[in-house]
Amino acid sequence: MQERLKEIFEWFHKNPELSYEEYRTTERIRKLLTEAGIEILPFPLETGLAAVIRGEKEGPVQALRCDIDALPIQEETGLPYASETPGRMHACGHDFHITAGLGAAFLLQERKQELAGTVKLLFQPGEESSLGALKMLETDVCDDVERIWGLHADPTNEAGVIGLREGYVSAAVDRFVIAIRGVGCHGAHPDDGIDPIPAACAVVQALQTIVTRNVNAFHPALISVTRIQAGNTWNVIPEEAVLEGTVRTMDRKDRSLMQERLTEIAEKTARAYGAQAQTEWIPGPPAVINDSEMAEYAADIARRRGFTVVPEEQSLGGDDFSFYEEKIPGCYIKIGTGKGQLIHQPGFMVEESVLEPAAAYLAAVLMGSEGRSGIETSDRKYE
Ligand code: NI
Repeated sequence: MQERLKEIFEWFHKNPELSYEEYRTTERIRKLLTEAGIEILPFPLETGLAAVIRGEKEGPVQALRCDIDALPIQEETGLPYASETPGRMHACGHDFHITAGLGAAFLLQERKQELAGTVKLLFQPGEESSLGALKMLETDVCDDVERIWGLHADPTNEAGVIGLREGYVSAAVDRFVIAIRGVGCHGAHPDDGIDPIPAACAVVQALQTIVTRNVNAFHPALISVTRIQAGNTWNVIPEEAVLEGTVRTMDRKDRSLMQERLTEIAEKTARAYGAQAQTEWIPGPPAVINDSEMAEYAADIARRRGFTVVPEEQSLGGDDFSFYEEKIPGCYIKIGTGKGQLIHQPGFMVEESVLEPAAAYLAAVLMGSEGRSGIETSDRKYE
């Protein structure tokens, strides 16, 4: 199994494709599943696919989400199976997610007669776009799913370590653009116009008070202004200044509070400078929240399989896995892939020794019946 998974993993690592361009990736996944006799579901999207394994015992319909897209990064790992496409890299470990998902699928397919319930494998395109999960949800493949599992490679932990926690795991990811409009004029005669730049600077400063003065100090939240744009020369006061950035929150109420206060502060501060602000709020995925029973169950299986379970690191990063969780109870598991460069970095690497244990672990989690006794049985079969 390990040798087979290594070969599979190295192929995906060598052939990264960006969001919604995952054609070869999808074809490869389809081929591997078909060869293993696994049923592919009808699926309307151009990339990504869904497969199903129908167990012979009674049980729930569960899904495992594996995202499949890569990033526009030039790989610098020096691996013998490094990306063959310049400027493209599996730098978020989605090649690992595909491989672990396939491995779990192979194991479950072989043990169909003991499998309690149905397992759907969702190979999701476009996670890096933050919207791939929504596209999956627009199809009917999730309609009957009662529990959904997600995984992520974790380069902050050694192989053999699994991070799990109940509750908030990652943040809601929102984007904002604030356009501050003044009146342009000669740089020597600001009195002839309304300078949007001091107004923009005041807005940037004031926005930080939302986190320190409005949000409960025990709640994680942040605002980053990541772009300021105004003017194009030295002696002209521009008409407009644009600010762009991101807001991250865990709590649903904080999320709407941030949006309200951000809009209000931008408008009123700009007005105090005689300018006008217009705010556009572009909502992304909500926070990833682990169902407590599922997290506890997954931790239990991990310990039984000899993994060290640590509290899952919370992050103000995001994952569109949360869109599924708006409809279906879910749990997002971080699998240690060896300490090294972090995800989205050109030297990020997954230790290959983790491939088979991760696949077997996921299979064990999905194997479960309603009670834990079923797991024990299947557990022994894997070892
Ligand atoms: Ni990722």
